[in-house]
Amino acid sequence: MSCVRVGLGEQSYDIVIEPGAIRNAAEYLGSYIRGRRLVIVTERNVADYVLPMLSEGLKDVALETIVLDPGEGTKSWHQLERLCDGLLNAGIERSDHIVALGGGVIGDLTGFAAAVIKRGCHFIQIPTSLLAQVDSSVGGKTAINCRAGKNLIGAFHQPVLVLIDPETLDTLPPREMRAGYAEVVKYGLIGDFAFFEWCEANAASLIAGDRTSQMKAIETSVRAKAAIVEADERETLDRRALLNLGHTFGHALEAETGFSDRLLHGEAVAAGMALAFRYSARLGYCTKQDAERVSAHLRAVGLPEGPAAAGVEAKGSTLVGHMLHDKKMTGGTLPFILVRGIGQAYVDKSVSLADVAEFLDADAL
Ligand code: GLY
Repeated sequence: MSCVRVGLGEQSYDIVIEPGAIRNAAEYLGSYIRGRRLVIVTERNVADYVLPMLSEGLKDVALETIVLDPGEGTKSWHQLERLCDGLLNAGIERSDHIVALGGGVIGDLTGFAAAVIKRGCHFIQIPTSLLAQVDSSVGGKTAINCRAGKNLIGAFHQPVLVLIDPETLDTLPPREMRAGYAEVVKYGLIGDFAFFEWCEANAASLIAGDRTSQMKAIETSVRAKAAIVEADERETLDRRALLNLGHTFGHALEAETGFSDRLLHGEAVAAGMALAFRYSARLGYCTKQDAERVSAHLRAVGLPEGPAAAGVEAKGSTLVGHMLHDKKMTGGTLPFILVRGIGQAYVDKSVSLADVAEFLDADAL
């Protein structure tokens, strides 16, 4: 078992990583159950595969569950209302625990419901996708989407525990594994060259299901994320913003594909990270060799390394147009996460969007 502590004063919590943790849930969740209730929020696919395991693992605890539809559409006002009504009708009290069992959609929606019901209830994250295990379940960002854009309605609300069971990855479709892997390699690209080298050597086995590689990747990722969240919980100090490497370019690609299954978030982030490296090389901040090495690695694991590979043919000006709606836009300036090399990301607030559009038109990948 691995345990990573997120040190946030009174809101500190553990991230426990253990294969089989769900089948032995009583061991990990026992202290949260005593005298309190657990209400599980999940979605249909996870309910079929993982809920029976959790139920077995909690032995004689009677589980109360709320099962939602799968997919990004569930992160909506309507589903938030349904979920809050369901939790309130179930008589949830602030000291009970709401458990988010699923991927990023369930974690984000449930965390937001927990943040607002009775001005804040305890919640536990049990992330079941690689992307949720290494990124969205850690750090307390919760949100839903609205007409104006993705994740624009939300709150910071830290969980009291994150329980990661890599066995849930065994039923994850390969495409989703690869998309989640983009958020793993991101930590190497942001600040850990040695981890990037490890990724180059081990990504294939990790994606194919090797448990040892998965454990190392998850633990390294959540340790890196915990350190960033401890230093800058609310993203006010240019530290947590580094986690957005590839996200500004990626957001434009996702917007162009209608935030649909045509391009998964992790795939857009992969293409976005490669673009951030190539753009940094164009500006002379990092070497072309580093940018090429990153693109080659993403290509080798089956992730897109640019708009064309992501199936996007839009002009640079169209993609930049999408960026203007980015929630990080401040005073007409959009901060970009650029790099001085592999493992050396930084926040650049002097990027010209016209230059980005020119770069995108010239970029051939
Ligand atoms: N996924 C980016 C963050 O948690 O800040």
